[in-house]
Amino acid sequence: MNEQQRKQANQIKQMDPSDIKSETDSNLERIQNTDSEALINKYFQTTYEPPNLKKAKKRRREDVEIHYDYAVPDNMKGIGKGKKFLIRTYGCQMNEHDTEVMAGLLTDLGYESTDDTNEADVILLNTCAIRENAENKVFGEIGHLKPLKLENPDLVIGVCGCMSQEESVVNRILKKHPFIDLIFGTHNIHRLPKLLQEAMFGKEMVVEVWSKEGDIIENLPKQRKGKIKAWVNIMYGCDKFCTYCIVPYTRGKERSRKPEDIIQEVRHLAAQGYKEVTLLGQNVNAYGKDLDIDYGLGDLMDEIRKIDIPRVRFTTSHPKDFDERLVEVLAKGGNLLDHIHLPVQSGSSEVLRVMARRYTRERYLDLVRQIRTAMPNATLTTDIIVGFPNETDEQFEETLSLVEEVGFESAFTFIYSPREGTPAARWEDNVPMEVKKERLQRLNKLINKQSAEAMAKYEGQTVKVLVEGESKKNPDVLSGYTERNKLVNFRGPKSIIGEIVDVKITNAKTWSLDGEMVEHAAEVK
Ligand code: 5AD
Ligand code: SF4
Repeated sequence: MNEQQRKQANQIKQMDPSDIKSETDSNLERIQNTDSEALINKYFQTTYEPPNLKKAKKRRREDVEIHYDYAVPDNMKGIGKGKKFLIRTYGCQMNEHDTEVMAGLLTDLGYESTDDTNEADVILLNTCAIRENAENKVFGEIGHLKPLKLENPDLVIGVCGCMSQEESVVNRILKKHPFIDLIFGTHNIHRLPKLLQEAMFGKEMVVEVWSKEGDIIENLPKQRKGKIKAWVNIMYGCDKFCTYCIVPYTRGKERSRKPEDIIQEVRHLAAQGYKEVTLLGQNVNAYGKDLDIDYGLGDLMDEIRKIDIPRVRFTTSHPKDFDERLVEVLAKGGNLLDHIHLPVQSGSSEVLRVMARRYTRERYLDLVRQIRTAMPNATLTTDIIVGFPNETDEQFEETLSLVEEVGFESAFTFIYSPREGTPAARWEDNVPMEVKKERLQRLNKLINKQSAEAMAKYEGQTVKVLVEGESKKNPDVLSGYTERNKLVNFRGPKSIIGEIVDVKITNAKTWSLDGEMVEHAAEVK
């Protein structure tokens, strides 16, 4: 970007709002003609490398540094006083939790949160790259935000999360959406105060995307969404490289937090009165493999089990690394809940092989048997992809039969979506869309049937419900989840929100249960 173009880009921030409607379109046009190639080169030359499977697979050997010394830069303290922020979150729990960290960082700077885009001074889109439709949603939202920026040139709009780790996305924003002020990656979250400062006072779009991760930053402030349930990261990244998946590139290599840091965080949450923690990682079963100690997820769960917090969950598991030690520890029960989310992706060993999942149908079913033997009442849920390249009707039938054999009580089901840079994206996406849709429909029908059957078994039973608040549909009704993650709606006093209560189930639906509270005395295990 040359000096003149930079000035033009900056004018948009300085213009009087009343001029902006007439002037801005031509300004934007000029900005659109800026030398985005030069900008792209500048930002990516030293910090960014596009997804490269060969290189990424070698990264395991690199060192991870853990930093405990985060502090708000002096010159940023109070910069958000009297101002508001809004973060839109797309995608998985990891993103939800990253949003809590960014909200913590912004709150530390003095900002307050708002749900209203019109009163926000900073808007961040925390994006998801897992499938094309997730990306399309974000580009749609970027389009919606343009008029806001035109009306309020001081508004800072940022794009972060997994999409910003993709070169093609950054290029597209630089070329087509130059009113965006800030783009930063998943490894740059702790730099938000500094980046915000540059975006507010600098002259051009700020882009900071590190492809080399390495570090773990402890002690970042967090503004958690509620006071009842909390997310706790146990590890970052993924080294599994399933052939369809973009995550190992957007989230980087596997890095485990130290057990003592995790345990301290869970203890702290328990002391604050939280009732449930969910331990988070893209592949939690690989926890500890990168540490220099002989310590895995089973060992960690065995310690967390002893903390006085009523409910502990974990997600997401990979069947390949789900070991006997973990099954043995989970079987001890207590606060370790017997709901296991175990993504299978396909029921065909051949499709699993080309997905590079590193297990067969038989091995998966063996693991399920092992889990059921140790935990006879365990609830299993899963993720499944239909329409992977070359998936035949027979292979899809194998998925249906596996779903029945395991008896999944719910599942997240997806149509395969090619992701640029992944091995599968180089193969022909040759299952026609009508066939993919039909397979998805058949699969969902089966899952719905199994869910409804599982729900029906609860009729007449009394279950323990962690009451989260008023039901979304009816403020006179309370809702919460059972230990096995079933949504329950029932009437009761608002004073029990945040407590675990007994509820007798009177009516089962496909995805939720209706019930009546059995006793008023709050019970916390
Ligand atoms: N296409 C469709 N679904 C995908 N998933 C991951 N990558 C893709 C893709 N390219 C699904 C997997 C994973 C879940 C989080 O998203 O089922 O478990
Ligand atoms: Fe993606 Fe999960 Fe496979 Fe990792 S284990 S590559 S996050 S699907």
